Amino acid sequence: MNDEKRLHMPLGEAIFSQRSIRKFKPDPIPVEDIHTIVEAGVRAPNGGNRQVGRFLVLTDRKKIHDEFGPLYYEAWWAKRRDEGHTWTSLEQIPAEDKSHRAAAQLASEMKDAPAVVFALAMNNGPANSVIPACQNLMLAARALGIGSLPTTLHPSVMERFRAMFKIPADVAFHFCIPLGYPRGSFGPNVRKPTSETTFLNAWGAAVPWK
Ligand SMILES: Cc1cc2nc3c(=O)[nH]c(=O)nc-3n(C[C@H](O)[C@H](O)[C@H](O)COP(=O)(O)O)c2cc1C
Repeated sequence: MNDEKRLHMPLGEAIFSQRSIRKFKPDPIPVEDIHTIVEAGVRAPNGGNRQVGRFLVLTDRKKIHDEFGPLYYEAWWAKRRDEGHTWTSLEQIPAEDKSHRAAAQLASEMKDAPAVVFALAMNNGPANSVIPACQNLMLAARALGIGSLPTTLHPSVMERFRAMFKIPADVAFHFCIPLGYPRGSFGPNVRKPTSETTFLNAWGAAVPWK
């Protein structure tokens, strides 16, 4: 079956039930699903159709577990230090700070993700050369029942990250997107009402809905 036909979940269902999935079952992702996911990614709009975006797909479980997982953990905690937090373990993050706790949990569990996609750009292309592709990719994953989320790394690990995957110096790293079947459920996600975030014809002018 071609990739288009494999994505039969209604677009509305995929978009409205999409949320960041950070807890993954250990089950591997079939290669045909990975193929469909990246095919959906490359269909996205990109500047001048120059197609500088590149995906590096990591499915080597030993490499994820022993090399990338620990690097991601280190990067996540380095970002917290940059933010001025003094926590050094998940247990120290206040219970009410659910988003940091969830992200810290992912930092600990990244090593067990069945697959990770790195979104890169040739000629040191900017993030906007891969962002639409990443969103397409994550929606396609959603349609296949596969959870994902965009995450980043930290300057302190970049040299080792590049060496780990032999990424050339003129290839920019933008996002790392773990993929896996969720432990738990998809959506709904929580967003501000569009009546608050959208204006009609002029800044501040109300839209005709609540
Ligand atoms: C550019 C970008 C970077 C992100 N980086 C991280 C990250 O490093 N770790 C993480 O756990 N979540 C990360 N997220 C996910 C957001 O935290 C998440 O989308 C947001 O909290 C809304 O939650 P939801 O997607 O479940 O609705 C990132 C999202 C974006 C768009």
